[in-house]
Amino acid sequence: MLHRNKTITAILIMATLTAASAYAGDNPSEINQRIGLGDPVAGKDKSALCQGCHGEDGNSASATFPKLSGQWSDYIQKQVREFQNGARFNETMTDVAMSVDDFKDLFDIAAYFASQKTMGGTPIENEEEKKLYLEGQNLYLHGNERTGAFRCIKCHGESGKGQPLNNNLFPVLGGQHKEYLIKQLTDFKTEERENDRSGMMLRITTRLTPHDIEALATYLSREPVPVSAPEPAASAVAAAAVSDVFQTLLEDRPVRIEDSNFEFGSAKLKPKIFKTLDEVVRFMTQKPDAKLTLVGYADNIGSEKINQKLSLARAESVKQYLLKKKVVAERITARGEGSANPIADNKTKSGRAKNRRVEIRLVIKEAKNVRVTE
Ligand code: HEC
Ligand code: HEC
Repeated sequence: MLHRNKTITAILIMATLTAASAYAGDNPSEINQRIGLGDPVAGKDKSALCQGCHGEDGNSASATFPKLSGQWSDYIQKQVREFQNGARFNETMTDVAMSVDDFKDLFDIAAYFASQKTMGGTPIENEEEKKLYLEGQNLYLHGNERTGAFRCIKCHGESGKGQPLNNNLFPVLGGQHKEYLIKQLTDFKTEERENDRSGMMLRITTRLTPHDIEALATYLSREPVPVSAPEPAASAVAAAAVSDVFQTLLEDRPVRIEDSNFEFGSAKLKPKIFKTLDEVVRFMTQKPDAKLTLVGYADNIGSEKINQKLSLARAESVKQYLLKKKVVAERITARGEGSANPIADNKTKSGRAKNRRVEIRLVIKEAKNVRVTE
């Protein structure tokens, strides 16, 4: 461990000397998290072959080869293993991946690239690109309610720099080559690339047009534009930002109506939840094909028969509210599951309160998009 810290400090000094403007996330604690278990110094030699295409410090010159500098080490390892086992395919990279047959070597190689300064973008080339950049920025930050495009920032972090807290599932995108980003987004969309967990990126890219993809790739690959007064066009798009309710439903996660939104031991809704339910109504208006299931749950105290009854009554009560707001009955199914599926510990008071809830879920009917969700 002591040895590790020393090498990291050495690399950091190197990085600060060469870096004119290092990304704010390049501090020892973040670099440490990115590196993971490997040894970056050993990895430098072991990655000689990789450096041929991906650049000596992971900043490749050609856009055919993705930048790896400052990428999460776990993400790099995952990709190499998946090129090896066929979950991801690329004629060039698949062959090369086969040459890494020792898992310790892979740890070290990945640690070396991860220890480098976070990849940085290139300047915007002209006015037309600036327009695309701003469009991409809006889409990245806010999504698009009309097309159902997600907010990328939720998973890929600010400016595409990844999530700071050991969230190595989500690759760093900010500063990556534009052409490479376009290729990956298109590959996800056409299911050429399918190694994303739970089909996350497939579900996202099916909602993107080729123009959206180019705008997003422009935003992510260019140096950040200093924030000035909001552009009129930008604020118009921001007005259609995806609300939390929309985002949750689109991501195939439940909108939870917690116990505190019902009168004690009753199915009667409190007015404070109406705003959220109105968002659900708005969602249903915007998505005429969408259907919902409402499932009530209880804690495990008392008789299961009563629990089942109350959980159903609460789901029905939410349904009645939506019906009153003109969502047609055929689009909503309500059921009660009593104490099934607890999401918290029934032994504690706060746990039991969490378990007493109604979940609103989108019924995913785009058959192509159905994959297992965790
Ligand atoms: C001959 C050129 C070449 C060499 C050498 C090479 N790569 Fe690659 N690598 C590629 C190409 C091309 C891609 C892009 C594949 C695609 O478009 O899907 C790639 C993609 C990757 C990715 C995916 C990056 C991402 O952001 O998803 C990783 C990780 C990677 N390479 C690691 C390595 C490692 C580690 C080595 C050394 C063992 C290596 N590569 C050597 C050409 C090369
Ligand atoms: C729900 C979380 C989530 C959201 C939202 C999300 N992504 Fe991703 N994205 C992922 C995951 C997970 C991966 C890594 C897949 C893998 O392991 O191969 C990924 C991978 C990518 C890659 C490939 C990176 C590389 O180096 O090859 C690109 C490009 C990308 N996402 C762009 C976007 C854009 C643009 C958006 C918004 C339109 C977006 N993502 C929204 C989860 C998400």
